[in-house]
Amino acid sequence: MLVLKKKTAELIASAVEKSFGGGLLSADEIFSMLEYPPDKSMGDIALPCFRLSRTLRKAPPMIATVLSAEIKCDEFCSVSADGGYLNFKIDGTAFAKRVVADITAHGEKYGSPECGEGKTVVLDYSSPNVAKPFHIGHLGTTVIGHSLKLLHEFAGYKCVGINYLGDWGTQFGKLIVAYKSWGDKKTIEQGGVDELVKLYVRINNEIKAEEDASVVGMPEGTPKKSALADASRAEFKKLEDGDEDNLALWRWFVDVSLEEYQKTYKLLGIEFDSYKGESFYTDKMPAEVEKLRNMGLLEIDDGASIVNLDKWNMPVCLILKRDGSTLYPTRDIAAAVYRKGEYGFDKAIYVTSAAQSLHFAQWFKVVELMGYDWYDKLVHVPYGTVSINGAKLATRTGNVILLKDLFAEAIARVKEIAREKNPDEDECQRIAECVGVGAIVFYYLSNNRMRDINFMMEDALSFDGNTGPYVQYTYARTCSVLDKVGRGSGKMTDAVLSEEEVELSKSLAAFPERVLSALGEYEPSVITRYILDLAAAFNRFYHNCSIANCENADLKSSRIALTEATNRVLKTALHLICMQSPEKI
Ligand code: ARG
Repeated sequence: MLVLKKKTAELIASAVEKSFGGGLLSADEIFSMLEYPPDKSMGDIALPCFRLSRTLRKAPPMIATVLSAEIKCDEFCSVSADGGYLNFKIDGTAFAKRVVADITAHGEKYGSPECGEGKTVVLDYSSPNVAKPFHIGHLGTTVIGHSLKLLHEFAGYKCVGINYLGDWGTQFGKLIVAYKSWGDKKTIEQGGVDELVKLYVRINNEIKAEEDASVVGMPEGTPKKSALADASRAEFKKLEDGDEDNLALWRWFVDVSLEEYQKTYKLLGIEFDSYKGESFYTDKMPAEVEKLRNMGLLEIDDGASIVNLDKWNMPVCLILKRDGSTLYPTRDIAAAVYRKGEYGFDKAIYVTSAAQSLHFAQWFKVVELMGYDWYDKLVHVPYGTVSINGAKLATRTGNVILLKDLFAEAIARVKEIAREKNPDEDECQRIAECVGVGAIVFYYLSNNRMRDINFMMEDALSFDGNTGPYVQYTYARTCSVLDKVGRGSGKMTDAVLSEEEVELSKSLAAFPERVLSALGEYEPSVITRYILDLAAAFNRFYHNCSIANCENADLKSSRIALTEATNRVLKTALHLICMQSPEKI
């Protein structure tokens, strides 16, 4: 559609030049005025001529009439003036032919805007905090982040996916104390990150109990005390000072956690290019703090070092605590500087929950004040909250729902159904993983990212309705049709096409534009909705137009070619939202 829209704009521009004189309106200006009328009977593309009337100094109906007489093009069966509108109606058969030719020519690159050639994007996403639960709150950053990476790769960008692990901080002091007090090597080796979380939860509870006990019967305002908290601070200090034993423990905690996260990433087909977490930036922060100080940007506020952001209506950005230790923004600034040097990015994208929007706005501003001229290449992509219906999915960690349990539950449910049809255990597992994981991803990415989502497992897994299983099933259907008739056995002919076929080709033609808006808005849900449109158009075609048994050989050939094109585009689109396309379900 994009191609045709561009071509239409050019045709109009030259018609304007002929009829009204040169230098008045460019094809680009006209392009931005073109619309897709909601009512198809009006046409497929329309130009509201009132937008031209001021420049051309003519009434809109008159402009429409003059231009309609001037424009000729094979791809339109009619170009007509309707009041103040100039309407273009597509010649379905010619149009479908061109769209399918376009898809065949570009193959898996069909739909790529190719705007990223020679540019680099770094994407910081997923980034769980070690030894804290990797829960459904991380679903957004993980799948939106990865989908944005795939979209950028598709557009030709060189992409660097970074898992900025939360692998440093006072929680490690606590974990070391907890491990030394109650931990056991074997239990952790077997139980993995869950056991670390247990230790972490336990020490937090015990610290709280000690603190509460320390003020019983004391006058109000007495500072709370906890020996375990003191010990934790001491262990973290030792870790920071490079104590070998503590470093070894820390490394082990990180490895155990990472091993567990990898299982979830594997299910989703995610691989990161870098796992440089927060710890990596410890020695890179002093230089940035020094720069801030030298530039006179630091102020001392109650002993802490801050950057005042009053002028920009934001609270202060904390750089150093009173005891001189660094903070979350300090680390992010150092990490951004490092990444700029390392990757020379043209864009750095950060995907986190909207709860962190202020944090990003603050430190982006600080980077700007520091004079880094790439401050405007930093993009924060926020998303809304996720909750889950019912207590069925609650885990041992209490009311937090772990991501791996969410996927495990979906996989188990699909497996039950798959087993009825398929006795082969490996095959069942493969289908269950592909459909179960896909169901969750699709359900999640069906909504605009800023919307708060209440997750309904039943809805996500349903085969009826706009779900992952439904679109994967549609893809599998295209495969089975093609297997039956033979892949590559069709090509577009001049056989006159019916409405279903033309609508399907229009849907196929819409893909490049949707990719562009998904990229521009950092919104994978644009692709999810596109997949639903395309699946609906294909299913309508499939139910109304017989393919294998079509008696008109030319028409059959066109239908096969349309099926092949749908198969190609569905596969690409599913890939862009981190979904697999199973040939069989
Ligand atoms: N680890 C953080 C969390 O779980 C997310 C990190 C986001 N990335 C960043 N550069 N701050 O909340």
